[in-house]
Parts: sequence; structure tokens; C-alpha cells
Amino acid sequence: MSQAQYHRAALQVQVYPHLIQAVEQSGLTAGGIAVDVGCGAGRDTRYLLEQGFVVHAFDQDANALAHLQDLNEHPRLTVQQSRFEDFDYPQADLITACSSLFFCPPQAFEQSWRKIVSALRPGGVFCGHFMGPEDSWAQLERGDLSIHSAEQVKQLFSEFDVLDWHEHNQPGQTLLGLSKHWHTWSVLARKTGAR
Ligand SMILES: C[S@@+](CC[C@H](N)C(=O)[O-])C[C@H]1O[C@@H](n2cnc3c(N)ncnc32)[C@H](O)[C@@H]1O
Repeated sequence: MSQAQYHRAALQVQVYPHLIQAVEQSGLTAGGIAVDVGCGAGRDTRYLLEQGFVVHAFDQDANALAHLQDLNEHPRLTVQQSRFEDFDYPQADLITACSSLFFCPPQAFEQSWRKIVSALRPGGVFCGHFMGPEDSWAQLERGDLSIHSAEQVKQLFSEFDVLDWHEHNQPGQTLLGLSKHWHTWSVLARKTGAR
């Protein structure tokens, strides 16, 4: 399966329940600011636009971003090619990082996460995935992925109220149909402090 087929497949997958919950938890009707971190082909970006958000979407991969070209003129969307640690995050009400942040090189993770936390307004909502040590990619010790234990993920959320936390630790497949063991944490959390 080619990269283009991968991106098309990603667009067919349902939006993750945590993103739907994040939109509900944000309590915003229209005009809230959302950031789609490592947006890929833009499935979540499209969903957030449908929900009325102003969306700042970025990804390091120009081929993935090409799938958002039909939205070039959308008045509530900005799209940028950027790495996690370089992106100029706006102050946001909702930040989603679906299956993306674990691709951050470990040496860039802390800076990237600090920027995400700073960008989120008090009361704002984060949802996203982190990779655990039992994932088959983690076990390969590739060195280019950010791997977190449960304790380390908890520490990332010291400035948040964790609203929901789901561990996925079982055999599965990639979108390309390759077998692998998935060990991920899906986290929905609200940044503490009054809006
Ligand atoms: C599995 S895809 C998920 C895409 C999208 N969030 C989704 O759920 O469909 C991971 C995405 O992270 C992006 N990515 C990987 N490393 C990155 C980095 N250092 N900075 C920005 N984006 C990155 C990839 O280009 C890819 O589009």
C-alpha cells in the first residue's frame, strides 16, 4: 500500500471517541480555537471545522497536507508544514494529537510538550495518544519514537484534570494491514485553572 493509500485510508477511519468527547467537554459552540497536532491527511481537522472551530493544523509531511488542499480557501483553517517542536502554537481551547506525538524524536519531546501545555488556555481540553513500552515498535528500540510508561504519562498531566484515560495493550494492525502489538494510552484531559 502506498503512502497516498495510507492517507486515504486514514480519512475513512472514524474520529476517535476522545476527540468527540473533547469537543463536548470544551463547551464551545462556534469560534473556539483548536490545534490538530500532526494532522496527517486531516480527518480530525475536517471534523473540528464541521463542529465550528477555527483550526490550526500542522504536520511535517507535505504529502499528508496535500489531502487538505480542497480546504485552501476555508476561512477558519490554517495549515502549515512544521515539526512538533517548531510550530508556533496559538492560544487554544482544544488541542488534539491523535496517533502523532509518539512519532516525536525523544530529544524533541519535552520542548514539544511544553509548547502544547503552554498553548492550551486554562480550562482548555487536550486529547491524544502516547506509546507504551510494550508496543512492538517500542520493543524494536528504534530510538526515534517517544515512549512513555503509565507513570510518565501521568506526570505529563500534572497541570491537568484527567477526564478519561484508556490503555490499549493488545495485538492489532496498522492502517496498512500489518500486524503489530499496540500499547498506547489515549488521554482526555482539561488544563487546570479558570478560563
Ligand atoms: C499516524 S499519523 C496520524 C495522523 C492524524 N493525526 C490521524 O489521526 O489521522 C502520524 C502523523 O504524525 C506526523 N508526524 C510524525 N512526526 C512528526 C513531527 N516530528 N512533527 C510533525 N508531524 C509529525 C506524520 O507525518 C503523520 O502524518
